[in-house]
Amino acid sequence: MCGLGIGWRLAQAGCRVDIFDRGAIGRGASHAAAGMLAAGVETEPGELDLLQLNRRSQQAWPAFAAEVEAASGQDIGYRDDGTLVVALTRDDERQLRFIHDYHRRAGIEATLIGGAEARQREPYLNPRIPAAVWSPDDHQVDNRALTSALAEAAKRAGARLRPDSGVEAVRIENGRATGVVVGDETVPADRVVLAAGAWCRAVGGLAPAALPPVRPVKGQMLALQMDPDAPLLRHVLWAPGIYLVPRRDGRLLIGATVEEKGFDDAITAGGQYALLDAAWRALPGIEELPIAETWVGFRPGSRDDAPILGPGPLDGLVYATGHHRNGILLAPVTADLVSRFVLTGDLDPALAPFTLARFDPALESGPAALAAE
Ligand code: GLY
Repeated sequence: MCGLGIGWRLAQAGCRVDIFDRGAIGRGASHAAAGMLAAGVETEPGELDLLQLNRRSQQAWPAFAAEVEAASGQDIGYRDDGTLVVALTRDDERQLRFIHDYHRRAGIEATLIGGAEARQREPYLNPRIPAAVWSPDDHQVDNRALTSALAEAAKRAGARLRPDSGVEAVRIENGRATGVVVGDETVPADRVVLAAGAWCRAVGGLAPAALPPVRPVKGQMLALQMDPDAPLLRHVLWAPGIYLVPRRDGRLLIGATVEEKGFDDAITAGGQYALLDAAWRALPGIEELPIAETWVGFRPGSRDDAPILGPGPLDGLVYATGHHRNGILLAPVTADLVSRFVLTGDLDPALAPFTLARFDPALESGPAALAAE
């Protein structure tokens, strides 16, 4: 999806663009995601640089959504309803207060509310909930609708979409990336943008120092089907170990496990049980809902959980990967700032903390490399 956004922007600027995907277009992590635009509630202590980038992208979302919809003629289900984070026990409440205090000091708008007020917002919550945090700026988009709309927008702008065309290798000549090898074909290019998510390290032709330290972080999810006219939940909801995302069509997404299992795509009883159990504790009424779908995705996790954006050690090769939990949230800023770097060579200061140079190439043969094999 990052590749679609960047490709769209480059095609809009008049570049000739080919977007390669190893399967159907946009069927990687962005298809599997939940579409939360949660710069607030997903922020963890120690991620202040990332928080700045996340907030910038969050602020760009309303205009980006409108532009994608206008350019594609497709609705992407952007909803600015806010997010509720609930505690289930007094221990959870202490943790919630600690995180809320951290968020306030980091400038994130969030309000601590009591259980009764939480239930006014969401009447079907477990009545024993002691406290919650209301995060008014954390919204959602339908990530599957988004990838479809971005693909259409990119196509209308003149980009060529190449599904089922995994890039086998980056072509390197005289120390510069000059194209990609796809099957029997070598496609020349002035610039190559490596945006293959968790699969980046499978792209050949790159020396260890040019390989991004990205590994797959498995996430299992499921969707239940609510009555769209009488939904059990109206806002994105976080509870211990879980998030729930209600869609306009009544689908209720529940996610997600975080598993270090390489590209193992098994849907397991334990993973699904953990999700359903945690969801049921917060929203008991889910037990009546039919299961609509289960699936697995692979977050592209870098060694410090932050994205890898912009230039690297090889002329002509630009990175847009490692978005881990924030790929959909970071779509606008990734599309805009990475495409601007490709077009002008100017690296926006917001990207400076996120280039590949922050990693020590000597560690390339370490755990991240092994996990991606
Ligand atoms: N951002 C949600 C997840 O990674 O599961």
